[in-house]
Amino acid sequence: MDLQPNKWILCLFICSFVTGICCNSMEKKIYLNLNYTVACVRLLNATHQIGCQSSLSGDVGVLHVLESEENLDWVLNTGHSPPYMVILEAELFTRSILMKLKDGSRRVAGVAVIEPNTNLPGGFSPHTTCPNENSGVYTETYDPTYAHCNRTMWNPFGNGLSYEEFPFPIFSMKEDNDTRVIRQCYQDHNRGENGSIPQYPLCAMQLSSHMSAVTDTPTCMRRNRIQNDFSISPEMVCDPLGGSNIWTSTRPINNTEKGHKPSQSVVIAAARMDSRSFFFDLAPGAQSSASGLIALLAAAQALRNISDEDQPNRTILYAFFEGETFDYIGSSKMVYDMENTRFALDLDNVHSMVEVGQVGIRPQGSPIYLHSDPVSRKNDSVNTEVQSLIENLKEASSSSNTNVSEPEASQPLPPSSLQRFLRARPFPGVVLQDHSSTFTNRYYESMFDNPENLNMTYPPELTPEEQLSFVTDTAKALADVATLVAQTLFLQAGGDSAKATSITADPQTVARLLYGFLVKSNNSWFEQMIPSDFKSRLVDRPTNFYTGVHMQKSEPSFLVEYILANLTGTVVNVTQEDCKAQRENEDDKESRHLYSYMWVQGAPVANSTDTDSLCVRSSVRLSPAISPAFDLDLLSSADYSTWTESRWKKINGRIFLVASHELEMLTLGVGVGILLLSLILTYLISSKAEILFCSGREPTSATY
Ligand SMILES: *[C@@H]1O[C@H](CO)[C@@H](O)[C@H](O)[C@H]1NC(C)=O
Ligand SMILES: *[C@@H]1O[C@H](CO)[C@@H](O)[C@H](O)[C@H]1NC(C)=O
Ligand SMILES: *[C@@H]1O[C@H](CO)[C@@H](O)[C@H](O)[C@H]1NC(C)=O
Ligand SMILES: *[C@@H]1O[C@H](CO)[C@@H](O)[C@H](O)[C@H]1NC(C)=O
Ligand SMILES: *[C@@H]1O[C@H](CO)[C@@H](O)[C@H](O)[C@H]1NC(C)=O
Ligand SMILES: *[C@@H]1O[C@H](CO)[C@@H](O)[C@H](O)[C@H]1NC(C)=O
Ligand SMILES: *[C@@H]1O[C@H](CO)[C@@H](O)[C@H](O)[C@H]1NC(C)=O
Ligand SMILES: *[C@@H]1O[C@H](CO)[C@@H](O)[C@H](O)[C@H]1NC(C)=O
Ligand SMILES: *[C@@H]1O[C@H](CO)[C@@H](O)[C@H](O)[C@H]1NC(C)=O
Ligand SMILES: *[C@@H]1O[C@H](CO)[C@@H](O)[C@H](O)[C@H]1NC(C)=O
Ligand SMILES: *[C@@H]1O[C@H](CO)[C@@H](O)[C@H](O)[C@H]1NC(C)=O
Ligand SMILES: *[C@@H]1O[C@H](CO)[C@@H](O)[C@H](O)[C@H]1NC(C)=O
Repeated sequence: MDLQPNKWILCLFICSFVTGICCNSMEKKIYLNLNYTVACVRLLNATHQIGCQSSLSGDVGVLHVLESEENLDWVLNTGHSPPYMVILEAELFTRSILMKLKDGSRRVAGVAVIEPNTNLPGGFSPHTTCPNENSGVYTETYDPTYAHCNRTMWNPFGNGLSYEEFPFPIFSMKEDNDTRVIRQCYQDHNRGENGSIPQYPLCAMQLSSHMSAVTDTPTCMRRNRIQNDFSISPEMVCDPLGGSNIWTSTRPINNTEKGHKPSQSVVIAAARMDSRSFFFDLAPGAQSSASGLIALLAAAQALRNISDEDQPNRTILYAFFEGETFDYIGSSKMVYDMENTRFALDLDNVHSMVEVGQVGIRPQGSPIYLHSDPVSRKNDSVNTEVQSLIENLKEASSSSNTNVSEPEASQPLPPSSLQRFLRARPFPGVVLQDHSSTFTNRYYESMFDNPENLNMTYPPELTPEEQLSFVTDTAKALADVATLVAQTLFLQAGGDSAKATSITADPQTVARLLYGFLVKSNNSWFEQMIPSDFKSRLVDRPTNFYTGVHMQKSEPSFLVEYILANLTGTVVNVTQEDCKAQRENEDDKESRHLYSYMWVQGAPVANSTDTDSLCVRSSVRLSPAISPAFDLDLLSSADYSTWTESRWKKINGRIFLVASHELEMLTLGVGVGILLLSLILTYLISSKAEILFCSGREPTSATY
């Protein structure tokens, strides 16, 4: 009896414990987590921050499915229950609507864009009209008449949304079950009948994508440093964008010894490996990067077959650049390394450059355009070299199925890695593109730059394995471009023209590469080419061409490394141990300077889960693709890329029903009231316990 007051408190505890359990199971009933959440994240450069973020605990708003631009008024002015979470169909994902939402961000909690199953007609590009405007060669000092895309607006559909900053989260959702649930919830709860005001409870959505970094790259790198110096468990706030360039050469080059190689003259064959879109893990990059990359890989394979005695005098160096979207990270780093004896060659070793750009969209019979730089061509010796390169291309064109044509002589280069080499010195070089002036790509750096953009379709009845090897029209056309590139490189390296005509790229290889990069990398061919440890990196979806940050190799660079080794290397009979130790046998100490060795899975063995692992010897190398700005600590550099990506803790979204604000306040008030009342009651009971439960009691001083 004498413990009565404490029992009261115990009872209160039990009650709250029970309600706690109830609440937890209530949460499961009410909250519906979204399964597919792709967010726009924050990026920073020397002077700005771009992208999106939510508050620390996520932003909550009442769902509003926007029907048209006029309907925005409800969100921005007349709606009764702000803030709103705006659901946009892809057609309404326009600059005009997004900027209005940004201006009215007081009443906007966030935006979710529904990714349609087919591409929008017309065009859509969230990139700028003049990609890499300030980091290419056409600056005010190089030639003011070409600066800022004065002559040609390369990307006319560009609306610049990818470079805006939004104070609320923006997510993308697939048109599937999630969106069905959202639409249903909106229909059931948030649409006022016949224009009346919708009644609580309303359907709401919470989006969380809080970003750690703010302001700009110098600020966030300073914070990183402070964390590193003073914190036991440092929490970085941002990371430089970048990864690895992949390169290889037709003759092995000593990669241990850096700097000038006296007897080497190389023709660089380049392509880029990256792309982006508004949403960070949704960068299909089919035309903007995969088309050129695949054509170059196929050309490299075609050139492997040249016998030793027919090898041209010059070496061909295949370079695949990473991070070109973000102010040419990969190519600017390679040029910087060549200038500072950090690369196996230097700029004096470079004879000329052929770059394969966007080459995947060519209506029947239309030519490949040979872009060159009119400014460096004012120099006679450069002009002669460029002309001879163009002659080689024309010669190759006559023996392959591809026409070539030159754009207007006064037209500058499109955005390309060659521009970064030209910044270092005048160079003979040509960029192959499928457009003469503005891009043929209507979906540049957007989520719609997918196989559909390349007009790539498979007959419906094929199994995945049959699709892998099915040669589509797109693959045939791209293989023709690869043949053109291969023959040109052979001629440009000094090969015999009679031999050049027999070089052809394999359409089957092109078809498989297209499937592997644009449909799914988890296929039987790619599996054979990679080490078994990396099997989990092959996925059942299109490759994400987003650059990523330096710690992780991006998806395309991982794939290109092993594919290039398979397509240009040879299988050597070496034990697993020696292969992993980069040598041919135990006494071999020299080979690793010239070759790299990869122990890969190989073909599956019949009736077994094992594979026939093998050692592939190639000259494939990685070189860092981190902007020199971070090496040099020039974080406000205007010459080098300064892009960093903010870190974040979680990205997720969920929907649930909310009561009105007043009701929530009332509930809270009543809750607080009950708490106070019970406290008073407890106090009263315990102080008057003697009277209430009149029984013999120990003195209050007694200890229990
Ligand atoms: C743009 O180019 C035109 C000639 O094409 C030239 O007259 C004009 O000055 C240029 N504008 C700038 C800002 O350089
Ligand atoms: C940083 O990005 C913003 C937005 O795209 C751009 O306006 C600005 O010029 C960039 N700054 C530098 C130094 O490149
Ligand atoms: C979508 O819903 C259907 C039927 O409700 C179900 O069969 C299917 O597995 C769901 N898909 C996903 C991706 O959840
Ligand atoms: C998400 O996936 C889970 C299981 O895969 C499913 O039960 C749930 O309904 C899905 N959510 C939505 C909104 O479709
Ligand atoms: C909405 O309007 C329709 C016809 O105009 C009417 O039949 C219906 O009852 C109305 N609903 C409400 C809730 O007023
Ligand atoms: C490559 O360069 C390294 C360092 O200069 C040297 O030790 C090695 O012998 C060279 N190997 C070959 C095959 O040239
Ligand atoms: C390369 O040569 C091999 C045999 O020497 C031949 O089977 C193969 O078809 C050739 N590949 C190409 C692309 O020419
Ligand atoms: C290749 O180089 C060697 C020696 O430098 C020279 O004798 C030969 O003529 C060159 N061949 C061609 C096709 O230029
Ligand atoms: C796309 O493919 C269809 C059917 O294969 C063809 O009719 C159409 O001309 C192609 N379009 C382009 C731009 O190549
Ligand atoms: C390339 O991969 C194929 C399997 O797809 C394999 O048969 C071949 O031996 C590999 N070649 C090299 C050089 O790795
Ligand atoms: C590979 O090397 C081993 C030992 O050196 C030898 O027994 C074997 O026959 C070789 N295999 C091939 C295919 O050359
Ligand atoms: C694999 O299994 C099939 C049927 O089980 C058998 O006919 C075949 O001979 C086996 N092949 C090998 C290489 O063991």
